[in-house]
Amino acid sequence: MEEVKKIIVVDDNALIRKVIVRILNQKGGFEVQTADSGLECLEKVDEFQPDLIICDIMMPGIDGFETCRRLKKSPTTTHIPVIFLSAMNETADKVQGLEEGAVDYLTKPVQKAELLARIKTHLTISSLRRSLESSKDEYRGLVHVMCHDMGNYLTCVHAYGELSKTIKNKNYATLEKYNDRMFVSSERAINFLEKIKEFEATKDAKVSLKLNEYNLLDMLQESQLVFENKLMAKNVELDFLGVDMSHIVKVDREWFVLSVMNNLISNALKFSFEGGTIFISSTVENSKLTLCIKDEGIGMVKSVLDKVFKTDTTTSIKGTSGEKGTGFGMPLVKRWMQKFEGSIDITSKHQSEFTTDHGTSIYLSFPI
Ligand SMILES: Nc1ncnc2c1ncn2[C@@H]1O[C@H](COP(=O)(O)OP(=O)(O)OP(=O)(O)O)[C@@H](O)[C@H]1O
Ligand SMILES: [Mg+2]
Repeated sequence: MEEVKKIIVVDDNALIRKVIVRILNQKGGFEVQTADSGLECLEKVDEFQPDLIICDIMMPGIDGFETCRRLKKSPTTTHIPVIFLSAMNETADKVQGLEEGAVDYLTKPVQKAELLARIKTHLTISSLRRSLESSKDEYRGLVHVMCHDMGNYLTCVHAYGELSKTIKNKNYATLEKYNDRMFVSSERAINFLEKIKEFEATKDAKVSLKLNEYNLLDMLQESQLVFENKLMAKNVELDFLGVDMSHIVKVDREWFVLSVMNNLISNALKFSFEGGTIFISSTVENSKLTLCIKDEGIGMVKSVLDKVFKTDTTTSIKGTSGEKGTGFGMPLVKRWMQKFEGSIDITSKHQSEFTTDHGTSIYLSFPI
């Protein structure tokens, strides 16, 4: 069955509204609302969330141009295609309409076939645009994973390689331990490249998820291994005592460890002070399992907290030891949690306001 498309018809002339609504209802597949002024349309738009707006130009109060301008200004409505209704066949009107951000215009009196054809065209264009945007997001996520998350594994291999060079007196036990770490990290990186190849192979820019039930503590320990070096270097402790050994979550293991756990632990570590502790715990309440990653680091100021999941602005600042970042980690974590049908919440107290009990807690919730 085809999806019902929502349209708002804006005209101060009741007869014109009626004619258009009748054409749309006869055709079927539309849910239509009307507005007799630009302001009424702006009031309705947030709640109704139309797929398209048909708007008269000359109206009392704010005219069609101003209505369109306001729609285009707001990030929540800027994507909605607007088709103008112009009474006269005036080129100046049409040009101004297109300049204000309208996608098309119709001349009154409205012809049924033309009205339906234009609506169809613009609904198709707008749905294509949306799917392009979503694959752009998928690719952006992928590039982040490649550069950032895979980087963690390589850094780990590199660090142990370097440490191996400092081993003296044929200390084979230590060498073996380092070799083991390098082996595990490089194996993870190789497995991951396989997943990325799969992703490329599907070509529809959708990551195929293999959701299964995994032990939470197990995955946390895997992530710990990647950061072992950095944790030691900063003398930060990971405390898993609050994690229930029996807790299971339904995720795609590789993506969860690599892109969710590793990002969150990397942040907690990056923004902790030397000698600090990161407390990880899990609880079950109201048919939700919640994993909490709590650090006692610098915390976030409100302006960072408000924007931390946005991809269009960066909230990235350097860590307490000058560690650099890109600001892509958190938006990615949120996207993954949505794919796993979970959610993410943050509470944070910045050290500038809370001199003693500052820090950040990240809560990941999964339905059970
Ligand atoms: N645990 C935390 N404590 C304090 N601030 C945090 C914490 N986690 C995130 N932030 C704030 O949110 C910003 C964005 O985090 P995000 O993980 O998206 O990017 P990043 O860590 O800066 O870069 P990247 O993850 O790409 O290396 C951080 O730069 C920091 O300002
Ligand atoms: Mg980060």
